[in-house]
Amino acid sequence: MTKLSVNINKIATLRNARGGDFPNVVKSAIDIQNFGAQGITVHPRPDERHIRYQDARDLKPIISTEFNIEGNPIPKFIDLVLEVKPHQVTLVPDSVDAITSNAGWDTVTNQDFLKEVIAEFKRNNIRTSIFIDTDFKLIEAAAETGADRVELYTEEFALQYDKGNKKAVLPYVESAKLAHKLGLGINAGHDLSLHNILYFSKKIPFLDEVSIGHALIAESLYLGLENVINQYLYKLSL
Ligand code: PXP
Repeated sequence: MTKLSVNINKIATLRNARGGDFPNVVKSAIDIQNFGAQGITVHPRPDERHIRYQDARDLKPIISTEFNIEGNPIPKFIDLVLEVKPHQVTLVPDSVDAITSNAGWDTVTNQDFLKEVIAEFKRNNIRTSIFIDTDFKLIEAAAETGADRVELYTEEFALQYDKGNKKAVLPYVESAKLAHKLGLGINAGHDLSLHNILYFSKKIPFLDEVSIGHALIAESLYLGLENVINQYLYKLSL
């Protein structure tokens, strides 16, 4: 079965909005695991506007499932990953000012660099995954880097699926087949949601893990609002 790793950056964003410690990301991660998710993902960005580097350190001891740290492997990030030693590191070529990840790696141009950082993570027994578009050349080059997995960048699929274009899943299916043939595991993420996850996960062969943040937290608001409002109304009625 495909594993669900919940990206908790949005919980940190909400916490940071008030400067306090509510909602608490460690408590949230414990709850998310107790509710059955099979992994926790964090994406510390250099400006720490969502998850902070310290959050990754605080989370490590409470992870009972799988810990995935994703980000651009700048020296500060590499040091954090080597210190925290998560189960998996996902390498993402996001620029400092990107609102969210908006491109996969050019594994051809960056092959030597990726080989080097991946070797370092593997020496430390950390599984490596490369965020990537559905381009065969890039997937072949990803296999050359020594990475264990690729994470297919699903924004385009999600966009097209919303417009009713279900065929948009086909490049992902073919990419997953190729990645599997090359010995790579397959993760996927970005804009996956309750709306598209059933279709996507049924179509993609060998899908090891999906990492979902934005939609999952937004959906939790929608699905939780009624319960919380009723609790306020009850207390106000006493
Ligand atoms: N995978 C990667 C590499 C990401 O950068 C992100 C967003 O931080 C996700 C998955 C999750 O995307 P979303 O928040 O849209 O579910």
